[in-house]
Amino acid sequence: MTRSTVVLAGIEDVERLAEMQATCFDEPWGSASIAKTLSLPGAFAMVLRDTTPAGRISAGFAIVQVVTDQADLLTLGVVPGLRRRGYGKRLLAAALAEATKRGAKLVFLEVAENNLGGVALYRRAGFETMGRREGYYRDREGRRVAAVTMRREI
Ligand SMILES: CC(C)(COP(=O)(O)OP(=O)(O)OC[C@H]1O[C@@H](n2cnc3c(N)ncnc32)[C@H](O)[C@@H]1OP(=O)(O)O)[C@@H](O)C(=O)NCCC(=O)NCCS
Repeated sequence: MTRSTVVLAGIEDVERLAEMQATCFDEPWGSASIAKTLSLPGAFAMVLRDTTPAGRISAGFAIVQVVTDQADLLTLGVVPGLRRRGYGKRLLAAALAEATKRGAKLVFLEVAENNLGGVALYRRAGFETMGRREGYYRDREGRRVAAVTMRREI
């Protein structure tokens, strides 16, 4: 199995981020939107990069924005063939560590209510549910899906 390490992504990684995001979510953001997100103040992406000479970005990504002492976990995904191997947990831990370095003390996120894997990952990482946003997401069939809002002190 190829070993990988979690590192900060650069603007040159936007195409690969967009590819991975589209395999993970019903609503593709596209590379332009990801580039725009990464240009927001305090925004950064963490990716799993193979520890081979080519250093390919393989398994997954997390995008976070830190504003003052609060962080928003904007998205996190692991490509379908590589799930349940601990990559999501590693990405989340690395993203929270980087957010802490940048001054965050509290992190917020939204996750689709019917996303049992995502909700389980966040609960297990110590996030607590704050509330619910009706119709926040749209699935592949165009149906509206509620989001659960969660928070964690870091
Ligand atoms: C959610 C997601 C990021 C998890 O990534 P992953 O690499 O499979 O997660 P991990 O292997 O690190 O799992 C860590 C823990 O989370 C929980 N978990 C993860 N996926 C789960 C699932 N499908 N069902 C139940 N629990 C799950 C488990 O407690 C797991 O620990 P365990 O494997 O020891 O039981 C991945 O499934 C994904 O990309 N899904 C699509 C995008 C998404 O939903 N992103 C999150 C919401 S923004």
